[in-house]
Formats: sequence, structure tokens, C-alpha cells
Amino acid sequence: MSEKVRIRRDVESMSAYTPTTSLDVFAERLGMDVRDLIKLDANENPFGPSPRVKEALANLQHMNVYPDPESGRLRELLAAYIGVPMERILCGAGADELIEIILQLFIEPGDVVINTPPTFAMYGFDAPLYHGRVVDVYRREDFSLDVDAIEAAARRHRAKLLFLCSPNNPSGDMIEAGDIDRLLELPLTVVVDEAYIEFAERESLVTRAGDEANLIVLRTMSKWAGLAGLRVGYGVFPSELMPQLWKIKQPYNVNLAADIAAQVSLQDVDFLMTRVETLVKERTRMEIAFAELPMLSPYPSQSNFVLNRVIGMSAEEFRDRLAGAGIIVRYYNKPRLEDHIRISAGTPQQVDRLLQLLTQLTIS
Ligand SMILES: Cc1ncc(COP(=O)(O)O)c(C=O)c1O
Repeated sequence: MSEKVRIRRDVESMSAYTPTTSLDVFAERLGMDVRDLIKLDANENPFGPSPRVKEALANLQHMNVYPDPESGRLRELLAAYIGVPMERILCGAGADELIEIILQLFIEPGDVVINTPPTFAMYGFDAPLYHGRVVDVYRREDFSLDVDAIEAAARRHRAKLLFLCSPNNPSGDMIEAGDIDRLLELPLTVVVDEAYIEFAERESLVTRAGDEANLIVLRTMSKWAGLAGLRVGYGVFPSELMPQLWKIKQPYNVNLAADIAAQVSLQDVDFLMTRVETLVKERTRMEIAFAELPMLSPYPSQSNFVLNRVIGMSAEEFRDRLAGAGIIVRYYNKPRLEDHIRISAGTPQQVDRLLQLLTQLTIS
């Protein structure tokens, strides 16, 4: 880099996050037709959005005008959907943006953020970008939270933020209610990311976010509503944080198409929930079938994906064999997950093809 161009040295030396890629890129890489691929690597909704979203976007008006900076109508609909006053809801370009906004609001250089890997990568990835110091408190062997160790780390480092994911990506389990109660006693703010809560049997914590001064809950339209490509997420915050959040949020962070698509989805919840039910059924079918295969040991999931330990071959080889047949799953080259594979729930037809292939792999 030119001497005149002086970017942050910590950014220059950090390694890049590897997000999932698009179907077109996978097709080119694998030398296959896009139509023959089944993408089960990013917990996306294989059914796509509500058909009403496509219609609304085809008729989108006023694209030359900036969108509503307060996402007012969207927040009204979200308030009705989750049963929380709109005054406590802030929307963002995906839950991802809200993670950044929270870090911007809380972190001064060197402040500690507690992360509980294996979990969603963005908490640990974003915190240093906003000058936070990440302290990792690893989950136990069964991926449950080590609450004693979190408490000890929080006190030792005077941590400001604790990021939790429930259901957890990638393990699929939820945080026990008693654990949340204990963690809310800590002198820090707890951020619970509920990106997958619509697929879970248990209730969301959103209604508690108003009563507890130190609880933030993140949700998204990416998964249950199939809007991952449009980027709409939201957070439910304690009232006293709201004026501070409005100060730092980019005015037009939720673009017009995303805003309208999310509104239309929230007017079509019953239909979208039938698809969620189908995905939960497919996930359960996958869990049962995987448990019968000698090569996989699945973990129980409350989400739209199943994490598995791979037995008898490396997880990387397993990923490559499936990719060779056009099925893309998530492999992790990370501590505690080296021998694991995460597989998202697909449509019934996609799961049929997956299970057929796995049976062939077992026989061969
Ligand atoms: C736990 C978790 N939180 C947040 C996100 C991102 O959500 P969004 O698409 O709303 O940015 C994901 C995406 O995979 C996720 O797994």
C-alpha cells in the first residue's frame, strides 16, 4: 500500500470473514447448473419470500425518494407481530447492522465484550472493529453455556457486553431460562440474538426486553420470512437506550425495497408460518434420519438447521462429497467444530434428495 495511504494496522493484519456465497458462484465453481444445486449452507429459507413481496416490489413507487428514516409503518407492524411497543424497536439492514450499532453505542477502546463460541461469527468479528476486546468463554462439550465461567470472566474483565445466541447458531440449542436470569444479574448488558426463534418451541425474550434494563433482543426477517437478500432485522431495546440509538443510526439504513418487503411479509404472517412449520418438520425428519446413519451424529435443534459430528471421514471430505453431488452444506475450520457439519433444512424435495445421497454414501 502507498505510504500516503494509512489505513488501520489492525485491519490490515486481520483475516477476512468468509461469508456464504451466491448460487451462481457455487455453480461456476462446481461446474454445475444452478438449477441442480441445493444450497443448505446458510440457514436461508428455501421457499423464498411471500409471493405478495414479489408483487409489491414489482410495483414499487418513489424509488427516487429516500425511505422513511424511522421505518415507522414497519415498526408499527413489528410491534403488533411481537407484542412490544414500537417505541422500543429499532430496525436495521439485517440483525448484522444492529450488532454493529450496539457496539458503536457501548464500546470505548479496550472495553471487553464476552463471546461464547462456537456461536455466530459476527459478534467476535465486529467487536474488534469497534475497538472492543473479545473474551471468549467457550461452551461446554454439549455446547451448553458455561454460566459459571461467563460470570467469572464478566467480573474479572468488567465486561460491558455479553453476546448470546438463542437458538444458537450453529449448535441449535436454546439458553435455559434460569441461565438467562443469572446472566441478567451481571453488571453488563446482555444481547440475545434470536434470529431463529420462529423455528423454536420456546417463547422469545422480547417481552422481557422492556422490563430488564440490561437486556437487548435481536430478531430478523431473513430466516422465517425469507428476506435474507433484502436485509431487514430489528432490535428490541430498553426504553432508555432508544434516544441514544436514534443518534447513531444511519438515517436511511433500511432501504425502500426492504422496508416494503418486510411490511408486506408482516401482513402475510399466517402463510409464512405454514412454511416455517414445514421447515421444522423437515428439520425433525433430518434429525431422525441423520441419527440412523453411521457417519453422522446430530445434535437436537430448535432451529432450521442441524449440526452433526461427522464420523469415519473428515468433515471437509464429507462437505466435498456432497458438493460433488450439488448439495452445499456448511463446514467449519474452527476450534471445537473441525469435525462438524451444519445442514440447513430444505424443502421436502430437497431433503429427499439429501437423504437419498447420504444413503448412497453410506453404502458405497
Ligand atoms: C445467529 C444469527 N444472527 C444474525 C444473523 C444475520 O441476520 P441478518 O440476515 O438479519 O443480518 C444470522 C445469519 O445467519 C445468524 O445466524
